[in-house]
Amino acid sequence: MSDFIPARIVSTGLFTPKESITNEELVASFNAWVEKHNAENPDDQKEPSSVGFIEKASGIKSRYVLNKEGILDINRMRPKLPQRSDDEPSILAEIAIAAARDAMKAADYQAGDIDVVICAASNMQRAYPAMAVEIQKELGIDGFGFDMNVACASAAFGIQNAVGLLQTGARRVLMVNPEICSAHLNFRDRDAHFIFGDVATAVIVERATGEAAPDSWDILDTRLKTLFSNNIRNNFGFLNHTSDELDISDPNTDKLFVQEGRKVFKDVVPMVGALISKHLEDNNIATTDLKRMWLHQANLGMNQFIARKVLGRDATEAEAPVVLDKYANTSSAGSIIAFHRHRDGIDTGDIGVISGFGAGYSAGSVIVRKAA
Ligand SMILES: CC(C)(COP(=O)(O)OP(=O)(O)OC[C@H]1O[C@@H](n2cnc3c(N)ncnc32)[C@H](O)[C@@H]1OP(=O)(O)O)[C@@H](O)C(=O)NCCC(=O)NCCS
Repeated sequence: MSDFIPARIVSTGLFTPKESITNEELVASFNAWVEKHNAENPDDQKEPSSVGFIEKASGIKSRYVLNKEGILDINRMRPKLPQRSDDEPSILAEIAIAAARDAMKAADYQAGDIDVVICAASNMQRAYPAMAVEIQKELGIDGFGFDMNVACASAAFGIQNAVGLLQTGARRVLMVNPEICSAHLNFRDRDAHFIFGDVATAVIVERATGEAAPDSWDILDTRLKTLFSNNIRNNFGFLNHTSDELDISDPNTDKLFVQEGRKVFKDVVPMVGALISKHLEDNNIATTDLKRMWLHQANLGMNQFIARKVLGRDATEAEAPVVLDKYANTSSAGSIIAFHRHRDGIDTGDIGVISGFGAGYSAGSVIVRKAA
């Protein structure tokens, strides 16, 4: 077995959709649907949603989406994303490519500099061919690509896979996280209609052999954990085709995202807090040396609890940056958006943690140190 080749994050990229929906707009649409539904269904009365609840319970104020009109239309309540022909780039690939180009430009890399594409996300547009292979083709990259899904922890799992692929000969890996979460969200579900937004992120991981480029980050260690739970689940899949009961328009369908939010909160906070603390301890890193935590962006309170468990005190906003107020939960992309937008003010040699967590349950911790 050859020696371990150190790895480095050399750049990141972000694609943010042009359209966004405020809590006020989302709740107005939801409540208009409730009024209509209640008038038409005397035996199935729904409760209205509230802006105050959403912001207090989650910290989310707004979310970016690929199609606002279809979501807010109470006769539709789902994005309207027209089907494309097989000869056109698919929409999931398109947003991944926008983020990838941003990352490649930041590092001044061309297609010939990349050997592998990993598409790591919660929802792939289709079963096959792999999204990563389409992204690879559109970018003109030689080599190979594959898809992987570990829900909201996909980016952390993707980074660990990228580090592994460097050991087997790849020079550089492009890992993308296209998340069209508005398409797996049930906008008629009061408990969840406010949770998600759309976005794509990209990370380029390379062998840390030469001199470090400006704004690059040594990956000191990665750690992953999974623990089965039904508390976040989406039963959409190819076997739906075999079911006689399938009705995707049912407001209570389980073929979209469903969760027991309070149970998730209670289970995942200790799991992630312990994972990061032990990971730092095993790498002989004192929490006083931890400058920043780029955490998954699902719930503000959850992140504050996790940061408190790790640090033993409240984190400042600079120590645990928040993007969920504007982006909402963007699944695997959340921690990468935070890392992309909030890594200024860190000196060479300073240490931070990127951590994604969610359905599975799944969690990942990536310890990075500013290289240059
Ligand atoms: C989803 C989440 C924001 C809900 O917050 P919560 O404080 O747990 O809220 P609960 O579901 O316990 O509901 C509390 C009350 O608010 C009500 N409520 C729920 N949704 C509401 C809405 N949209 N508007 C107004 N009230 C609402 C509930 O009916 C309940 O009322 P009750 O006390 O009279 O029964 C929160 O649990 C969460 O973010 N959990 C973590 C989820 C997560 O990270 N998932 C990962 C996904 S990848």
